[in-house]
Amino acid sequence: MTQYDQLFEADRAHFMHPSTHAHDHASGALPGRIVTGAKGIRIEDHQGKQFLDAFAGLYCVNIGYGRTEVADAMYEQAKQLAYYHAYVGHSTDTIIELSSRIIDWSPKGMKKVYYGMSGSDANETQIKIVWYYNNVKGRPNKKKIISRQRGYHGSGIVTGSLTGLPSFHQFFDLPIDRVKHTICPHWYRQAPKGMNEAQFVNYCVDELEKLIAKEGADTIAAFIGEPVMGTGGIVPPPAGYWPAIQAVLKKHDILLICDEVVCGFGRLGSKMGAQHYGIEPDLITVAKGLTSAYAPLSGVIVGERVWDVIDKASQESGAMGHGWTYSGHPVCAAAALANLDILERENLAQNAADTGAYFLKQLHETFDSHPLVGEVRGAGMLAAIEFMADSAERRPFDAALKVGPRVSAAALQRGLIARAMPHGDILGFAPPLVTTRAEADEIVRLAKGAVDDVASEVLTQHA
Ligand SMILES: Cc1ncc(COP(=O)(O)O)c(C=O)c1O
Repeated sequence: MTQYDQLFEADRAHFMHPSTHAHDHASGALPGRIVTGAKGIRIEDHQGKQFLDAFAGLYCVNIGYGRTEVADAMYEQAKQLAYYHAYVGHSTDTIIELSSRIIDWSPKGMKKVYYGMSGSDANETQIKIVWYYNNVKGRPNKKKIISRQRGYHGSGIVTGSLTGLPSFHQFFDLPIDRVKHTICPHWYRQAPKGMNEAQFVNYCVDELEKLIAKEGADTIAAFIGEPVMGTGGIVPPPAGYWPAIQAVLKKHDILLICDEVVCGFGRLGSKMGAQHYGIEPDLITVAKGLTSAYAPLSGVIVGERVWDVIDKASQESGAMGHGWTYSGHPVCAAAALANLDILERENLAQNAADTGAYFLKQLHETFDSHPLVGEVRGAGMLAAIEFMADSAERRPFDAALKVGPRVSAAALQRGLIARAMPHGDILGFAPPLVTTRAEADEIVRLAKGAVDDVASEVLTQHA
C-alpha cells in the first residue's frame, strides 16, 4: 500500500466532501484526487500529473497559485497578531486598511464593510440586514426577497433558498416562503421563439412586474442578483437588462443586493460587475476574489441608504445583534491586502478585459459551428459553451446522455479543468485573471479535443 492509497482510504472513511456523491465516494467508484501543489494556473496531483485549471479553483484563485507574497503577508500577520475579535469596536490596522480599500473598489455610495468567511454567510447577513432595515422603518410585512431561477447565492438555509437551482432545494424543504424566483435572463434558453434580445429584456421586466404585483410590492424587501450569473451556467445579461430591472426596483422601493462573489475584483474586466453594467446597488456581497482564496474572507458592503437606517436604529435600540467570532480576521485581511496589491500592481482587471475578449473570440471561432454546440457566451474572464442536440431549435440533449459532464471528464483526461455546470449541458470557464493569451489558446485547444471526443461518441450513437 502506498502513502496515497492509505490517504485515499482515510479520505473515503472520514472526510465528508461538499457537493459529492456520498456512496460513490465512500465506495471508491468516484476516483477522487489528492491535490499536492499548484503554481500559476496549474495544479498538480498526487501522481505528479499537471492540470491547467481553467476554473481558478471555484472561480476564486484570481491571482493564480503559489504567490508567496500573500503567504508571507499572512505569516507576518499571524506572528504579530494571529487573532483578535472585532466586537464592540475592536479593530486591527489590517482590517481598517482593507475596509477603505474595498470601498475604493466599490461603486459610489458604498459606506461600510461587514466581514464573514464565505459567500454564503455574507448573503445570510445581507438578508438579515434587509429584514432589520424594514423592521426599523416600521414595515414589518416588507420581507420577501426576489431572486432568479438559476441564480446562485450559497447553500445555507436562506441562501440555499435564494439559489434558484432545484438540486439545492431537494430534501431540504427549501426554498423558504419568503423567497420568490423570477425568470433567468438567458435569452438563448428562456426567450420565447422569435423574440429578439431587446424584446426579451422587456419580457424579463414584465415577468418581474407580474411577480411583484402578485405578491404585493409592500411585501417585497429586496432583489438579489449576480451581475453575470455564474453557477447557473455563466450567463451574461442581455444589453440593457440591469438598468431596466433597476428602474422597476426603484419604482417599488425594493433594495438591490448585488452578489459580486464571482464578478467582484476584476473578473469582468472592471473593478466590480456593478461598474461594468452601471448597477447602483444598495448592498454588495464579495468573497472569492477578495483574497483569491488564499484565506476565507467575505464582505457585506453596505450602502449609505441602508447604513443611515442602521445608524439611527442603534441610537434607539442599541447594537445590532449580529456577529461572528472570525469577522474581520486579521490573517485573512492580510491575505486580502496582499491580493489587492497584486491585482492593482499587475492591472489584472485590464488583463481580464483584454485576455477575456481574446479568449471568447477564440471560443467563438472554434465552437460556433461545431455540431455539438448551441451557444458560446462570456464576459471578461468568464465563458461557457452550451451543448445542444439541435442548436437552431434550441433542443437540449437528453439529460441521461450527460453530455456536459462527459466533455468535462474528457477535458480532464487531456489535462484541462473546465467545469460541467449543474444546470444543462454547459462547460464553464473562469480562468485565473493572470492567464495569458498563449494559455487561453491552450485552453481552447484542449477543450476542442474534449468536445470532439464526446461528439464522436454522441453523434455516432445518434446517427
Ligand atoms: C455568486 C455567488 N454567491 C455566493 C456564493 C457562495 O459562496 P461560498 O461557497 O463561499 O459560500 C457563490 C459560490 O460559488 C457564488 O458563486
